[in-house]
Amino acid sequence: MELHILEHSLKVASIAKEGIQICTHGLIKLAFLPSRSRCKFFSLTETPEDYTIIVDEDGFKELPQSEYLSVAEATWLALNVVSGGGSATSSQPIGVTKIAKSVIAPLADHNISVFMLSTYQTDFILVRERDLPMVMHTLSSEFTLLRLVNGETVAASCSAATNGFVKPKLVPRPVIHPLSSPSNMFCVTSLDPDTLPSVATLLMDVMFYSSGVKEYGEDAGDIRFFSFSLIEGYISLVMDEGTTQRFPNNVLFTSASGELWKMVRIGGQPLGFDECGIVAQISEPLATADIPAYYISTFKFDHALVPEEHIESVIGALRTNGSTGQ
Ligand code: ARG
Repeated sequence: MELHILEHSLKVASIAKEGIQICTHGLIKLAFLPSRSRCKFFSLTETPEDYTIIVDEDGFKELPQSEYLSVAEATWLALNVVSGGGSATSSQPIGVTKIAKSVIAPLADHNISVFMLSTYQTDFILVRERDLPMVMHTLSSEFTLLRLVNGETVAASCSAATNGFVKPKLVPRPVIHPLSSPSNMFCVTSLDPDTLPSVATLLMDVMFYSSGVKEYGEDAGDIRFFSFSLIEGYISLVMDEGTTQRFPNNVLFTSASGELWKMVRIGGQPLGFDECGIVAQISEPLATADIPAYYISTFKFDHALVPEEHIESVIGALRTNGSTGQ
């Protein structure tokens, strides 16, 4: 299997809800007018707390300096597992459950903090740029490491990486942070970039003007969660089932099964960026049970999406694993 180290230098930022209006000029450009900027990696996720933005250097220039914008201090690189090998055209990205044991657990065992972004197309594992030598050392025994430079794939050199690798002994990995599960259901979907203009005003409404609209029934245990990404020309959307109904028929891609997903939200206090092992605590048991999952980290909390029919058993299993028993 191949592990691609993408060339984007990424920043992770939070925009306060009350500051969104001063950022919309840049955000609209990044989301809807990609030919106006050189940005190739843009993601926006709205949660009840804030908007989380993950963006490359060119995109970052579009955001104003402001008291409403907090930027995580590190620069991040995105890793992406590509299975297949063979011809480049037949390689298929695989899901977060499949990379739990080969990528996420080893990084956690080596105390490397990650930040996850699953999309409709693939799963990005963000690591801090300064951790890259350690990341490469940790993963070189399982993967062919390839670096993307100016769009070209080149073998990533990894000095003295293959020898002296001692697999840490298996230790239990209890779930440390409190979990919650909102009642609404989500769709992970995409659309053809050519049809983006036809739904742009709807998306702007959903992204920037839905606060205060009581359609989410937060009293009923629903959560506001919406994620849009435009990465290397591919669009991915994660939205509440109700929001999908606002879209015209046949615009959103649906998987053959039309799957609905429920969320496990991880964290009581904001999780920060230094702690490692949180993604592993959640994704390893899912991998053991062979339950597919998407995983989206935001500035403050983490979010796993599991098929709705599995939510009870997942929550049950993760809570019995919990160190505090909650
Ligand atoms: N760093 C965590 C880990 O390695 C995941 C990210 C948690 N932090 C956050 N702000 N969402 O498992």
